[in-house]
Amino acid sequence: MPKTLTAPPSKTGKASSLDPLIEKLNSFSTNNYWDLGKFLVEKVIPAALKEGIFGEQMLKRMADVPGFKFPFSILKQCQMFYTYYPDVEKRPLPEIFYFELATKLDESRKRAEYEKMAIANRWTISDLQRHIREDELARREDEKTKFGFDLKEKTIWSVDAPDPRFGKAGYKGRLPGQLIANALFYYSEPGWLIVDPMAGSGTIGNVIETIPHFSNRHCRMYDLDPSDQRIQRANILQTGIPEQSASVDYVFLDPPSEFYPKSDDAEFSVNAAKAETMMKLKTIIREGNRILKPKGRLSIIVEMTVGNFGFIDFPFEVTSVMKELNMKPIGKVYLPKRGDAAKVHAHTSTEGPRPMASDCRELLTFEKQPTA
Ligand SMILES: C[S@@+](CC[C@H](N)C(=O)[O-])C[C@H]1O[C@@H](n2cnc3c(N)ncnc32)[C@H](O)[C@@H]1O
Repeated sequence: MPKTLTAPPSKTGKASSLDPLIEKLNSFSTNNYWDLGKFLVEKVIPAALKEGIFGEQMLKRMADVPGFKFPFSILKQCQMFYTYYPDVEKRPLPEIFYFELATKLDESRKRAEYEKMAIANRWTISDLQRHIREDELARREDEKTKFGFDLKEKTIWSVDAPDPRFGKAGYKGRLPGQLIANALFYYSEPGWLIVDPMAGSGTIGNVIETIPHFSNRHCRMYDLDPSDQRIQRANILQTGIPEQSASVDYVFLDPPSEFYPKSDDAEFSVNAAKAETMMKLKTIIREGNRILKPKGRLSIIVEMTVGNFGFIDFPFEVTSVMKELNMKPIGKVYLPKRGDAAKVHAHTSTEGPRPMASDCRELLTFEKQPTA
């Protein structure tokens, strides 16, 4: 460790007036965060400002000085601790409570509420930490379900079981309605006309009818073999989607598993299998694109085919077709299969490990670009 700590050289190459402050900071004990915060707020930050360095930037710079013992996150917490509680000694609870409040809660109103509860209920520090943690989890849960479904915030949308309000139990290939709700939430807009040309058990219709957040979207559904009277009969591979060109805002495509190759067949030919599946996917994609208005969107669920031969990357192939159609990719989400739905392959080769099974589909979304 170097004897003296110096800030990274300034642009002018001159030694910085901040160097002695950095040296001093490093002598603080790690258990006296309030003093550290006071020194930062009263000495270091004003000195840094005089040199044209803003507070946060200065904290980052110091944390990068070789041999400096406090990481940026601790410096930031100490700064907040002193800023929110410069009078900590006069307060009724031990210092550690205020450190917890300052670093976990942004709002002064919330900090005051927790302080009151801690005093009134004689909380220990663990009680305070537990209450803050549990309230935060509850807040996030409320946030996630405030629209009436399990809103996903990251790009892996896993669900444990289909929400029974949407679609028909036992219908082969039924998509959990929560997935459709998330797709509608992220990719469609109020007032839009939505078309599902392979609607199966009518899941999308139930989502739109049931969830108030989607009450101003309208939906039309088709299927080769309609499962109820809301769904109109149509074989979209043969006759196309019975909608006018450029009349629809959002198309949701959930093709059946039969569209994909059976890679365990003894006579399996990768090229022929790929061509056959792509012919079907291209047909439905072109139809989807045709009925979309400019700036309309299309989501499609696609899966790789994996086998002893290697893999066929259908999500990649579909994206290429979309680009040829001037459809801009705007979303890619992973849909893990539930439980042990992925079919493990027969082990035909005597060499090497058994090929892995595909365990995840992708929801790809594209936007139709207006023609120049
Ligand atoms: C994976 S399922 C859709 C499931 C639906 N998303 C749900 O949640 O119930 C695929 C659907 O495509 C339909 N289908 C297959 N070939 C079709 C075609 N050529 N035209 C229209 N629908 C077709 C099937 O009858 C099946 O209901």
